[in-house]
Amino acid sequence: MIRALLFQVFLGLVAADNGLSAWVRYAPLANSHHFHYAIPSKIVALNTTETSPVYTAGQELQDGLQGIFGKQVTVEHAKCPAASSVVIGTVDEYTKVYGKLQNSPELVEDGFWLSTKGSEVQILGQNERAALYGAFEYLSMLAQGNFSQVAYASNPSAPIRWINQWDNMDGSIERGYGGQSIFFSNGTIVQNLTRATEYARLLASVGINGIIVNNVNANSSLLNETNIIGLGRIADAMRPYGVRIGISLDFASPMEYGLPTFDPLDPSVIEWWTNKTEALYQQVPDMAGYLVKADSEGQPGPLTYNRTLAQGGNLFAKALQPYGGIVMFRAFVYNQLNESDWRADRANAAVDFFKPLDGEFDDNVVVQIKYGPIDFQVREPTSPLFANLHKTSTAIELEITQEYLGQQCHLVYLPPLWKTVLDFDLRVDNKSSIVRNIISGQRFNRPLGGSAGVANVGTNTTWLGSILSQSNLYAYGRLAWQPAQDPESILQDWIRLTFGLDTNVLNAITQMSMESWPAYENYSGNLGIQTLTDILYTHYGPNPQSQDGNGWGQWTRADHLTIGMDRTVTNGTGFSGQYPPEVASMYEDIATTPDNLLLWFHHVNYTHPLHSGETVIQHFYNAHYSGALTAQTFLQLWQTLKGKIDPERYEEVLFRLTYQAGHSIVWRDAITNFYNNLSGIPDEAQRVGHHPWRIEAESMTLSGYMPYAVSPFETASNYTAIVTTSNTTVGTASTVLAYPSGTYDLAVNFYDLYGGISEYKIYINDKQTAAFSADYVDVARLGHTPSIYLDGHSATRITFPGVKVAKGDTFKIVGTPGGIEPAPLDYVAFLPAGVVD
Ligand code: GCU
Repeated sequence: MIRALLFQVFLGLVAADNGLSAWVRYAPLANSHHFHYAIPSKIVALNTTETSPVYTAGQELQDGLQGIFGKQVTVEHAKCPAASSVVIGTVDEYTKVYGKLQNSPELVEDGFWLSTKGSEVQILGQNERAALYGAFEYLSMLAQGNFSQVAYASNPSAPIRWINQWDNMDGSIERGYGGQSIFFSNGTIVQNLTRATEYARLLASVGINGIIVNNVNANSSLLNETNIIGLGRIADAMRPYGVRIGISLDFASPMEYGLPTFDPLDPSVIEWWTNKTEALYQQVPDMAGYLVKADSEGQPGPLTYNRTLAQGGNLFAKALQPYGGIVMFRAFVYNQLNESDWRADRANAAVDFFKPLDGEFDDNVVVQIKYGPIDFQVREPTSPLFANLHKTSTAIELEITQEYLGQQCHLVYLPPLWKTVLDFDLRVDNKSSIVRNIISGQRFNRPLGGSAGVANVGTNTTWLGSILSQSNLYAYGRLAWQPAQDPESILQDWIRLTFGLDTNVLNAITQMSMESWPAYENYSGNLGIQTLTDILYTHYGPNPQSQDGNGWGQWTRADHLTIGMDRTVTNGTGFSGQYPPEVASMYEDIATTPDNLLLWFHHVNYTHPLHSGETVIQHFYNAHYSGALTAQTFLQLWQTLKGKIDPERYEEVLFRLTYQAGHSIVWRDAITNFYNNLSGIPDEAQRVGHHPWRIEAESMTLSGYMPYAVSPFETASNYTAIVTTSNTTVGTASTVLAYPSGTYDLAVNFYDLYGGISEYKIYINDKQTAAFSADYVDVARLGHTPSIYLDGHSATRITFPGVKVAKGDTFKIVGTPGGIEPAPLDYVAFLPAGVVD
């Protein structure tokens, strides 16, 4: 027994894991005794201050060698013989202690030098945190069983590698799907900041050096005396890992603290911010800076006083300048528009607002630009603003939290999407102008630049709400360090670090992750039409209609004949003209616009032929069917890993992939039905609207249940569901089965509303065959934004495999409502092996 247990621990594959240590687990390596020759027997960390990153690195190395090899290694802080030691410190400290290096590595800020010769290891940082990055890189090699001899310098491509958290003072998180804030609760900073330190550890392990801790929709109460002291505690908690904190500001704060104005040019306002900034630096001497969302989505800003956005940004830049702080000024500024104006376009806003200000921002202002011109959609063209600011430093804003992209309930590995922008060549002045070289500062010779990733981690032990979505946080850091890297090889490092070295595990998770964004795009919004989720409510499930007829400007302009935004200069909104000429002419001409952005740039008939040869509408149908089919295979792939992953994480992922398989069908049916209904054009393959294996709930014999017209209509099969006649009535729906006798997978589509847990029992010939509760959102088994309606967010499908039925059997489902949830039911399907209906 003891032997078996030891063996399990040693393999490091099946030990329980709740996700908290994410990819920095230091799990035991199989056969590690073969490599003892390569393990240092001493750690020399050249700093004795316990809060210094070099000291931290010493501890990490000790924990790592213990965890990976089961070897206890002592940490010294003074000179020891270099042989069989890992020596870690800054280049300067190393030189003082060991003398000048033979070949000094060329290091920029935060860069490190790593050299391994068997058990003699040298990790030298340009600064303290850089040394820690080197330690994490070395440990990552060991944890992946990589004992090669290396000697190289690694430098980040840009100085700003930040995280943005959208945490509110009450502890909620805007667009967060992993629980409550680890920083705030009840209007103030939490007492126990252990999770903040653990978060800093994860961030440092991938080279992230800054974090904005509160929501861009900021609350000025963060600036009261108690909270400023609290911010000092957050900074202290994260500093040992070299992560500097910054905060988002509410532009109108001075007024909320009693001044009659928040005009950025008013001397009393300037003085107010100068004093606040000083008070903050007293508590947080290394504060990274401010993030500002001004004149955007109802947030106050300088335009109120007819001041420019640059004057607004410079107000903070001047206050921060003496301390070396930075202002990240968001370019997400737009006005509500009227769709009846053919030339109106929200996508134009950022360039319209910011291009005229190029050169007017102070040097410590960085304009933070979302990757696309709208808002984190499943596919957008690169924001043209990157091409239009030559005298301003810029950073790209990416979203790690999957707001419009499945909210961590769908597996969507994001780096391939990010790379469509990072690798895009904007051809400014007909010269190579790749976005990653613009944000690094290199292309326009700017001093600052980099990336901001909206992460929104929470108290959930998986941080983000799901284990598989941790790959996005990991990869964000790796790409912020070096955006030219390949998403698949980053992913594979993450898989090995998170799940061990089994090649079956590696291959299965690689395949599903790399297929996940294309699949999601296929079953959500195609050809550049955006995600087609509900933009007026939760941003989660399908609701194409919600895009149009409102001022938000995420329009599709779909009618019964045509679809797409005409963004050409000749006949549309002129957006394509915001790009430099080579790119502009590609998008201006429908013949050279890539299919995957056709509807972003052009307004066409549903029958318009794509380069692929399909028509637009048939592409919608085909893509949705193929995307949903791919999502079914993720589940099957995962099931091949049973026993190769610890049960805790296996079950967590299984639950989510099962859910995704069902919800991808909800997406598929909603979007294809919607456009089928609007265009009247049938699916050539006759799938849309034809469901031979389904029984609609409303067509069964009902007692205590009644039909219910679902809105939006396309989120119910045949537009109709059933609900119990009251919140206390138990409903029964029954029917006689006409399928050939055999074994089927029984799929049940129901709606899981927030505000109650209904119970369902299924009987075949009065024998109970299955039962389930609609508790996914109520007990936060799924973290997506819940809905209180029957709609595309709450629609859910559960499948019971291997149900035996004979022709003529009676099927009965009994629904017991709970709270506001009236045991809603859409349809059931009896699926023969291999059929997805
Ligand atoms: C999106 C998101 C908001 C967020 C905003 C922003 O619109 O839905 O929650 O505040 O982006 O980035 O500022």
